Amino acid sequence: MGNKLFINAKNNSFKKTISIDGDKSISIRTLLLGSQAVGKSQIENILLSEDIKNSINCLKKLGIKISLNKKDCFIYGRGLNGFQYKKNIVLDAGNSGTFARLILGLLIKSPYYIKLIGDKSLSKRDFQRVIFPLQKIGANFKVNNNKTLPLKIIGSNFINPIIYNEKRGSAQCKSTVMLAALNSPGQTIIRAKKSRDHTEKIFKYLGIPVIVKKKKNNDEIKIKGEKIFKSFKYRVPSDPSSCAFFIVLTLLSKNCELKIKNVNVNQTRIGYINILNKMGAKIKIKNLKIRYGERQADIIVKSQPFLKKINCPPRLNSSLIDEFLIIFLAAAKANGVSSFSNLSELNKKESPRLKLGSKLLNHLGIKTKLTKDSIKIFGDPNINIKKNISIKNYYKDHRIFMTSVIAAIIFGGKWKIYDVDSYRSSFPSFLDIIKKLGFKFKLV
Ligand code: S3P
Repeated sequence: MGNKLFINAKNNSFKKTISIDGDKSISIRTLLLGSQAVGKSQIENILLSEDIKNSINCLKKLGIKISLNKKDCFIYGRGLNGFQYKKNIVLDAGNSGTFARLILGLLIKSPYYIKLIGDKSLSKRDFQRVIFPLQKIGANFKVNNNKTLPLKIIGSNFINPIIYNEKRGSAQCKSTVMLAALNSPGQTIIRAKKSRDHTEKIFKYLGIPVIVKKKKNNDEIKIKGEKIFKSFKYRVPSDPSSCAFFIVLTLLSKNCELKIKNVNVNQTRIGYINILNKMGAKIKIKNLKIRYGERQADIIVKSQPFLKKINCPPRLNSSLIDEFLIIFLAAAKANGVSSFSNLSELNKKESPRLKLGSKLLNHLGIKTKLTKDSIKIFGDPNINIKKNISIKNYYKDHRIFMTSVIAAIIFGGKWKIYDVDSYRSSFPSFLDIIKKLGFKFKLV
């Protein structure tokens, strides 16, 4: 695999049906819960990306037997807190913030120190957000002053169920405490700003005692801990965040049509579809069904190269947190000035995405107005790049790489895009699908 991708895309209209890789959030959650269930769980269509491979390796180090047969994953759980491992183990989460944070929730009773490390990007991200509630529950940490990786966690025999207020709208923080609640006696209560609710849904599917009260701005989640649950079977739907790249590609191309099958269309994940439809797209959700408590459907999208500006309501932010970069491209081609606000969390992802999203647009000749937590994008419906563009030093962020490939196709120009390997952390068939839709590129 080369490290640079060259692309100078030619106009190409397609009408295709595609399948997209499994959902990353659900793949990680089913693995973690399989490790705590009693018996052999089977997860079909698991995402086979770098983040998931790292998650599997970490769980194996914790003594969980896991085997793969193509995209079927078998996990041999030993029940709650059933990890078995030696002293001084090191867990390497690679690029996965979700795995690194969520696994800590399952280590609150670990008898020995466990070291958690990650790649360069993950080592810059904040862990105080999960250390704080886990300390209240009883876990102990050795960590640097910046509260970043590497860190060490050791558990305790004196675990307290807590009342936790999650104010960022972070599903990772909420889920870490939910996983810790499994091994906490009594009732854990979480009041969480709205965010993706896969953990709640999987808990219900597994019969773990959880009560969720949906309120206007917050959800109240009550979990009774120390309840054993049995192994399970789960089929992972396609990842809506990965679909977003191809939905925007189709929308902004000419005379194209795309159908994507069996996508997770959980309302807490498809804010970007609402936003694109408000901008004038007509994205359709067909064959809606409920599987394992999750909404699943086919998505149909047709080209709509004339989009209107958008003023994105901040209450939707968490439901499109991973799609802002690609939505910024749609805004770059829309008629008028689009605005996005209350986005400080976006700078805390695999890269400072608000800042780098703005830098990328400026590179293409699109004017932006950036603050610490907001951006205005001055759209240009006639954008047509003729020059050479080089995308380098963007923190090896997988979503920046994929956004750049889509930008190259829809806006034109001769592009050289670095850090090709990055896309494998979340969406390993991304480039195969680009090829399947008829676009040519060269890897060097
Ligand atoms: C995720 C939650 C989001 C998201 C990440 C996956 C999850 O992060 O950005 O890619 O699976 O819970 P935050 O919860 O930190 O917003």
